Amino acid sequence: MKIAVIGSGHMGGTLGKRWAGEGYQVMFGSRDPHSDKIRNLLQAAGPKAQAGTLQEAVAFGEIVLLAVIPTEVERVLREAGDLENKILINCTNRFDGKSADLEVLRLARNARVVRAFHTFPWEALENPRFGPTNATAFLSGDHAEAKATVARLCRDIGLDPIDVGGSDNMEKIEAAIGALWQVLAPQFGREFSMRILRRVEEG
Ligand SMILES: NC(=O)c1ccc[n+]([C@@H]2O[C@H](COP(=O)([O-])OP(=O)(O)OC[C@H]3O[C@@H](n4cnc5c(N)ncnc54)[C@H](OP(=O)(O)O)[C@@H]3O)[C@@H](O)[C@H]2O)c1
Repeated sequence: MKIAVIGSGHMGGTLGKRWAGEGYQVMFGSRDPHSDKIRNLLQAAGPKAQAGTLQEAVAFGEIVLLAVIPTEVERVLREAGDLENKILINCTNRFDGKSADLEVLRLARNARVVRAFHTFPWEALENPRFGPTNATAFLSGDHAEAKATVARLCRDIGLDPIDVGGSDNMEKIEAAIGALWQVLAPQFGREFSMRILRRVEEG
C-alpha cells in the first residue's frame, strides 16, 4: 500500500518513518523535497521512503496523511485537488476554537476522510507502549472500509484502534478529547496517552 505524507514535521515525519519501517511505500510531499531536513528524514526512514512535491506525493498515495500546520490546511487541500478513490487521514488540530474535522471534511474533495492520530502527542506515535499496554487510537469517518484500512495502519505501529463513529460524531469527539487534553497535559506533560479498556478486544 502506498502512503503519501503531506507535511514532514513531528507528526508526518514520525508516522511516515514508522510506516516505512513496517514495509509500506511512503512518499513525503514537502515544500522542499531536497532540503537537509528531508534528507535526514529519508535516511532515518529507510529504503521504503522517498520524497517529492505535494502533487507528486498525492498522485503516488492510495492513502494520504494530512499533517501540516493548521493555517496551511486549506492551501494544501486546494493544491492537492481531486482525491477521489483515496483515503485521507486527518491528524490536524486547530487552536482557534474552530473544528479541524469540519474544515477537512469540507475541503477534501471526494476523499474518504478518516480522522485519526490527532489525540496523540507525536512522541506517543514513536513509542505507543505505556508500561504493560498500548495507547488507543480513536478513528472516525463515514467509510467503514477506509476506517478498517487505517485501523490496520494503527495496529502495524503498535496502536490499539477503536471506531468512534461517523462524521456526525467527529466534532463531539474532537471537543471531548480536547477538553480532556487540557486537563491532562498540565499534569503529565507529553508523556501520556489514552487507553479504552474493554472485556473483549477485536483483532
Ligand atoms: N505535534 C503534535 O504532537 C501533534 C499532535 C496532534 C496533532 N497535531 C497536528 O498535526 C499537524 C502537524 O503538526 P506537527 O507537530 O507535525 O507540525 P510541525 O512539526 O510544525 O510540521 C508541520 C509541517 O507542515 C508543513 N508545512 C507546510 N506549509 C508550511 C508552512 N507555511 N510553514 C510551516 N510548515 C509548513 C511542513 O512540512 P514540509 O517542510 O515538508 O513542507 C512542516 O514540517 C498540526 O495540524 C497539528 O495541530 C500535532
